[in-house]
Amino acid sequence: MARDDGDLLSRDQAASSATGAPLRLETRRLRRELRSGERTLVVVNDIDLQVAAGECVSIRGPSGAGKSTLLALLAGLDRPTAGSVLIDGQPIEGLSEDELALLRREKVGFVFQSFQLLGNLTARENVQYPLDLLGRGRSRQRAEALLDDVGLAERGHHYPSQLSGGEQQRVALARAFAAEPLILLGDEPTGNLDTVTGAAILDVMMALRDRFGSTLVLVTHDPAVAARADREFVMVDGRLAAGRGP
Ligand SMILES: Nc1ncnc2c1ncn2[C@@H]1O[C@H](COP(=O)(O)OP(=O)(O)OP(=O)(O)O)[C@@H](O)[C@H]1O
Ligand SMILES: [Mg+2]
Repeated sequence: MARDDGDLLSRDQAASSATGAPLRLETRRLRRELRSGERTLVVVNDIDLQVAAGECVSIRGPSGAGKSTLLALLAGLDRPTAGSVLIDGQPIEGLSEDELALLRREKVGFVFQSFQLLGNLTARENVQYPLDLLGRGRSRQRAEALLDDVGLAERGHHYPSQLSGGEQQRVALARAFAAEPLILLGDEPTGNLDTVTGAAILDVMMALRDRFGSTLVLVTHDPAVAARADREFVMVDGRLAAGRGP
């Protein structure tokens, strides 16, 4: 179903969270089934989640619980079997692939465990690239300002292979926040880093969240990282429950 831009920004209801802040991200009985040979796996099992604008939630859970699949559904990278994802009250399942791509580029940022920088571009070019795609202008200056925000003002001309893991993840954060996303999804963003570096990366992420008002959804195996979120969830066998878990 095609929608115009105005529709993309409209809300189907005046939704707000328990704290009164507007709801940024919502799932309603979100379900993802996958075929595995003769069996059907329920990887995401009727999840109802509500996250307010500017809120940070963490999701822990065992390997195979469905955490990465849930993030992919939240970003519109994967399509649910049933249920819906709403961003600012707007269900995304009706959007075309092109509209979903635009939504991701403009409104959803990603950070992964493996930093996924482009190795043939410098740090500054990695951050500038999505800004150029958006065509918002002054992309070079904005990329340099973002590198400054993450403490890498002097390293813009370095290639990823010349940077430490923590530095590469800072570049990835600058890139992810470049479009000032409504939502930032992190899939084990500190998973490849030592504890101290991981904590520093989380500091940077929280500072950027405060600056841009982005909503954060962080998947992590690390209880210390999870505990820094405003709310903690545990995912087991496709189901999401509030709490600290084991
Ligand atoms: N394309 C696919 N086809 C079949 N099964 C899949 C596919 N993608 C994921 N799965 C299965 O779905 C389940 C959930 O996978 P997912 O990657 O979401 O788990 P996860 O919680 O992110 O795990 P980890 O902590 O190891 O990253 C797993 O059992 C996985 O094998
Ligand atoms: Mg995963």
